[in-house]
Amino acid sequence: MPFSTRFGDHFYAREDGRAETAHVFIGQNRLVERWGDGADVTIAELGFGTGLNFLETWRQWQRHRLPGARLDFVSFEALPMTADAITTAIGRWPDLEPLCARLIDRWPELSVMPASWMLDHQTRLTVVVGDALDGVTRWAGPADAWYLDGFAPAKNPDMWSEPLMQAVFDRTQPGGTFATYTAAGWVRRNLQSAGFDVEKLPGFGGKREMMRGRRPD
Ligand SMILES: C[S@@+](CC[C@H](N)C(=O)[O-])C[C@H]1O[C@@H](n2cnc3c(N)ncnc32)[C@H](O)[C@@H]1O
Repeated sequence: MPFSTRFGDHFYAREDGRAETAHVFIGQNRLVERWGDGADVTIAELGFGTGLNFLETWRQWQRHRLPGARLDFVSFEALPMTADAITTAIGRWPDLEPLCARLIDRWPELSVMPASWMLDHQTRLTVVVGDALDGVTRWAGPADAWYLDGFAPAKNPDMWSEPLMQAVFDRTQPGGTFATYTAAGWVRRNLQSAGFDVEKLPGFGGKREMMRGRRPD
């Protein structure tokens, strides 16, 4: 179970990280339904971590995408994990291992910043290394959906700050969405004052509440 000593937090839900990805990030952004219209889609993420969110998204995208549609997945990460650490973490989900192996083949190229790879003919991954506020501010966007996945707000406030939430909003398509596992009050206020319509929902696993939101049209 990957744990960050620097931030004092786990990388994903202890119960089942992959189920959290599916329920919170893919589910609350309603991605499977949205992929059904065949449009190209850009998903942006704060915190690549072990790549679990990306790999599970890629797996589901391969099952549900329509021919010709393209997924651009852009993730902002300050401290990329080693290929070995990623492989060990993802080893818990054997059906993700083939996709993980394809990611890991390219991972050493990450010293070239930002790294961008076509992982299959319909899927491009970009990992932007550095502080998220800096990376998102330089990124043109826009995203159709955001995964807000920093460590817990109390332990990692920079990943949920007012300027970062504003930069996220400014790089969201009208009608675009975000999802996150947290419902911390000050994070909700930052997202609302940035311009998102925010909804609280029952949380995943042991968490009481989570949030999703939408940029008004
Ligand atoms: C909860 S983990 C992300 C889990 C990940 N999405 C996954 O699927 O494994 C949070 C990530 O945010 C990164 N991080 C923390 N502070 C950051 C910052 N200011 N800018 C960019 N990345 C940051 C950490 O290095 C860590 O990988």
